[in-house]
Amino acid sequence: MVEISTSILSMKEGEEAEVILGLEASKTDYFHIDVMDGKFVEKNTYDKMLKYSSYIKRISNLPMDVHLMVEDVEKAIDEFASVEPNIITFHYEACKDKKEVMQMINLIKEHHCRVGISIKPNTNIEEIYEFLPYIHLCLIMTVEPGKGGQTLLIDMVNKIKTLKKYITDKKIEVEIEVDGGVNLNTAPKVKEAGANILVAGTAILLAKDYKVIIEELKN
Ligand code: DX5
Ligand code: ZN
Repeated sequence: MVEISTSILSMKEGEEAEVILGLEASKTDYFHIDVMDGKFVEKNTYDKMLKYSSYIKRISNLPMDVHLMVEDVEKAIDEFASVEPNIITFHYEACKDKKEVMQMINLIKEHHCRVGISIKPNTNIEEIYEFLPYIHLCLIMTVEPGKGGQTLLIDMVNKIKTLKKYITDKKIEVEIEVDGGVNLNTAPKVKEAGANILVAGTAILLAKDYKVIIEELKN
């Protein structure tokens, strides 16, 4: 069974309470919080996501899945840990070297959150193999990070398969999350390849009925 993490990136202002409570009632498994700093990616959603995530913490019991698309990973971990997310994921590409990657992993653990590492479409999956025993989740970007509503890069399906095979062979317990362009057409492909958490933004927020689309994406 896969889990669904709904990205609230494209949530309209003024509709926050309705959308968040509606998603909770429709059984999303996580809220996916897309944190962008205007440097690692062009857009800046930093303050808005701090505000939204503390709002979610107040009105909902569901876990948050924070996706940091930022250069200053350490600062963002410290700030977003305050909303007590279940998962904090940072980008491998945002770290200057492998030592920093390990430091960020440990920092997230000190905040009692689960740890995820994300890689962009052009980064080879093999680059993060050495960190897998220390983390809970690998977030494979299936679009270039930066905005919602893009088309899933179909080559990424092979990347998911490669990782799935590697962790199965090595008996490493790591969740595989995919993010970008997940919809009813692409979900079966990434699930079959081995993903077990699917992030979806546009597909869910633009659907008529959150409950129906979430169920359809899961099954
Ligand atoms: C992209 C974000 C994604 C994205 C998901 O940089 O990390 O979470 O917004 O949105 P959709 O489902 O619209 O691709
Ligand atoms: Zn994301």
